[in-house]
Amino acid sequence: MASAASRTSLLRTRIMDFITSTATLPLLLGCVGVFSLCKLLQWLRTRAYVRNAVVVITGATSGLGRECARVFHAAGAKLVLCGRNAEALEELTRELAASRATEVQTHKPYTVTFDLTDPGAIVGAAAEILQCFGYVDVLINNAGISYRGTIVDTSLDVDKRVMETNYFGPVALTKALLPSMIRRRQGHVVAISSIQGKISVPFRSAYAASKHATQAFFDCLRAEVEQHDIEVTVVSPGYIHTNLSLNAVTADGSKYGVMDKTTAQGRSPSQVARDVLAAVGKKKKDVVLADVAPSLAVYLRTLAPRLFFSLMASRARKEQKPKHC
Ligand SMILES: NC(=O)c1ccc[n+]([C@@H]2O[C@H](COP(=O)([O-])OP(=O)(O)OC[C@H]3O[C@@H](n4cnc5c(N)ncnc54)[C@H](OP(=O)(O)O)[C@@H]3O)[C@@H](O)[C@H]2O)c1
Ligand SMILES: *[C@@H]1O[C@H](CO)[C@@H](O)[C@H](O)[C@H]1NC(C)=O
Repeated sequence: MASAASRTSLLRTRIMDFITSTATLPLLLGCVGVFSLCKLLQWLRTRAYVRNAVVVITGATSGLGRECARVFHAAGAKLVLCGRNAEALEELTRELAASRATEVQTHKPYTVTFDLTDPGAIVGAAAEILQCFGYVDVLINNAGISYRGTIVDTSLDVDKRVMETNYFGPVALTKALLPSMIRRRQGHVVAISSIQGKISVPFRSAYAASKHATQAFFDCLRAEVEQHDIEVTVVSPGYIHTNLSLNAVTADGSKYGVMDKTTAQGRSPSQVARDVLAAVGKKKKDVVLADVAPSLAVYLRTLAPRLFFSLMASRARKEQKPKHC
């Protein structure tokens, strides 16, 4: 017995010696090395994918769109910045042109001013972009508007306005640019949706509906254009610290004008913009950029809908009616 025990302990020491002396360290270093190499290769691939690419960004005047403009510009993209405010677009262009780039050659952005609720203007903008550049490599449908209100008090005009901006606008712009992508057998369409494109929370009906529609449309598009070698990425962020809630519309169509606590505590737009660049570089199909709780809520909605609905109902009771409704 005693000799067996000592033999076991000897064996254990030998094994430990073997691990510490020969295998573990090189193995650990090897893993770190392979991991770093993969990261580096991925980074280089993203850089190569975006460098000199024609990238159209809507809603570039503020928040996430503006940060995407900075990130893609620094990566060497030929930017087309879109928004309603020509002055804000020019200011951003000047800022980007003045920024000192390091390794990659950067390009002065081109700006196009139009309103996404105006279908004619969208067609005109797409024609202008194609005339100027000949093609579009990446279209980032980022512009959007949020909403606060109870369904019972909200005028249908408000529902339509949110839908026009967040859904019909991106759909129209995508359709206007798609034929040229198909002809070229190259292109990448990105939709900045929201975690609210996967779950609905109370007092956000029009917004959540527009984002659910966005998710559905671009999922469908992905399936249809894969045969033409066109990529589709749907990005669903959680809260981001932007002016989105300040710019949100209320039940009567007026501006909400409040920086919500949830928005103020959200992720930094520059961090989310870097994640968008990485998702585009990796040609991801669907990305959720949110914390654990909202990500879990998406699963809860699918796996335990009754529980999810009762949680939302109690949240609605607690929040009551927002003041502006
Ligand atoms: N902030 C968040 O918590 C959050 C979370 C998930 C998803 N998102 C999504 O992220 C995207 C960017 O929003 P953000 O947070 O950066 O908000 P933001 O700071 O309010 O920016 C919204 C952008 O959309 C543009 N826009 C609004 N209505 C437009 C219209 N009718 N025509 C053309 N452009 C219009 C605005 O441009 P102008 O007003 O200058 O014309 C602005 O550049 C949106 O799709 C939003 O739904 C945001
Ligand atoms: C929010 O709006 C203010 C005033 O228009 C602007 O100065 C600021 O840059 C905006 N913030 C973001 C994150 O877009």
